[in-house]
Amino acid sequence: MKVPFVDMSRLHAPTRDALIEAFARVVDSGSFVQGHEVESFEREFAAAYRVPHALAVNSGTAALHLALQACGVGQGDEVITVANTFIATAEAISLAGATPVFAEIVEGGHVIDPADVERRITPRTRAIIAVHLYGEVADMPALRAIATRHDLKLIEDACQAHGAMLGGGFAGTLSDAGCLSFYPTKNVGTVGEGGMVLTSDAAIAGRVASLRNHGQAARHVHTEPGYNYRMSELQAAALRVLAPHLAEWNAARIAAAGWYAKGLAGLGVQAPEPMGDRHVFHLYVVRHPEREALARYLGECGIATAVHYPTPIHLQPAYAANGAGAGSLPRTEAAVREILSLPMHPSITKDEVDAVCGAIRAFVEGRAAAGRTVAA
Ligand SMILES: Cc1ncc(COP(=O)(O)O)c(C=O)c1O
Repeated sequence: MKVPFVDMSRLHAPTRDALIEAFARVVDSGSFVQGHEVESFEREFAAAYRVPHALAVNSGTAALHLALQACGVGQGDEVITVANTFIATAEAISLAGATPVFAEIVEGGHVIDPADVERRITPRTRAIIAVHLYGEVADMPALRAIATRHDLKLIEDACQAHGAMLGGGFAGTLSDAGCLSFYPTKNVGTVGEGGMVLTSDAAIAGRVASLRNHGQAARHVHTEPGYNYRMSELQAAALRVLAPHLAEWNAARIAAAGWYAKGLAGLGVQAPEPMGDRHVFHLYVVRHPEREALARYLGECGIATAVHYPTPIHLQPAYAANGAGAGSLPRTEAAVREILSLPMHPSITKDEVDAVCGAIRAFVEGRAAAGRTVAA
C-alpha cells in the first residue's frame, strides 16, 4: 500500500465548497488586505483560544520576529532556544538583531531542557523561546519560573502545536507572546501563508499591531520603522473556514498516534507515547539507530517519510559563526541522527498506519535475521 506523508486534497475535500464561497465573498468585497475578514478571524480565534489579543500576520516567521521586537529584544541581546527546530526560530532572533544561544533538549524527548536554559543565561540574555516541537508542549511552568527569576521574556514558538494544551491553557497562550504559523501542512493551515501572535499583554499587542503595518500608530503616523507583515483577506477567509476544524483534526492525529504506539510496541523503535492534549502530533517522529536504512526500506515499500530536521541549526552554515560547533549539543546531535517522521495527518486511516507499522516490523525482523539489530 502506498502511504503519503500528508494528503492535502483529502483534508480539504469536505471544506472545498465553503472555501470557494469564502473566496467569492472576498473577491466581491473588493477589500484584499487586513480588512473585515482578518478582523473577524482575529476575533473568532481569540475567543476560541481564550486570549485577549490575537494578531494575524503573513507568516509564522513574521509572528516570531514581531513577538521578539515587541518584547524589547534587539541588538546585542541573546535569546535562548533550541537547535532542533525549523530554521525560522533562529532567523527571527537574527531579524530582531539579537543572537540565538542554543540549549539542549530534554533526555529522551525533543523539547527544550529548562535546566540547560538556566545554565546558558548570561547578563545579555533577554528572552527564551520555547519551541513546542512536533506538537508537544514544552515544560512551560519550569520555563516561566526561570524567566521570572532572571527577569526574562518568555515566548512560545507554537507553530507546530495549534490546540495543544498544558494546565488548561492553549500552547501559544502560556507566555508573554505565542506564535503560530498557518503554513498549509500545519495542524491548522491556510491555502497560502499566514501566522499569528497571541498575547494577554496590551502593550505587546499594540506594538505588534503597529509593526506589522509599517509602524503606523494611526493613518499616516509612523512612530517607528516597521514592516509589511499584514495578512491578506483571502487567507483570513480561508482560515475562518478551516480553523473551526482544529479540535476534530487534532483528535484524529492523537488517535493515529495511539495506533502507531500500539503497532510499533516491541519493535525496538523509540516511539512517542500519546500524552492526551499535551501533544497534538503535528509530526509523528520515531527514533531508530539505522534511520537511513529504515527510511530507504519504507520508501521502497511506497511509504513516504521525512526528517525534521536533518541538521541542527548550530551546524548550519548560516549559524556556523555563532560559536557552538559540532559536539556542543550532544543530546540534540544524537537525536538528530536517529529521528524519522512517519506519515501523519488528520485523514490518515488505520489501514495506512497498520501498513507503516507492518513495513517497520518487516525491516526490524529482516535486520534481526541478518544479525544487524535485535528487536527489543
Ligand atoms: C517550529 C517552527 N517555527 C517557525 C516556523 C515558521 O513558520 P512560517 O513557515 O509560517 O514562516 C515553522 C514553520 O514551518 C515551524 O515549524
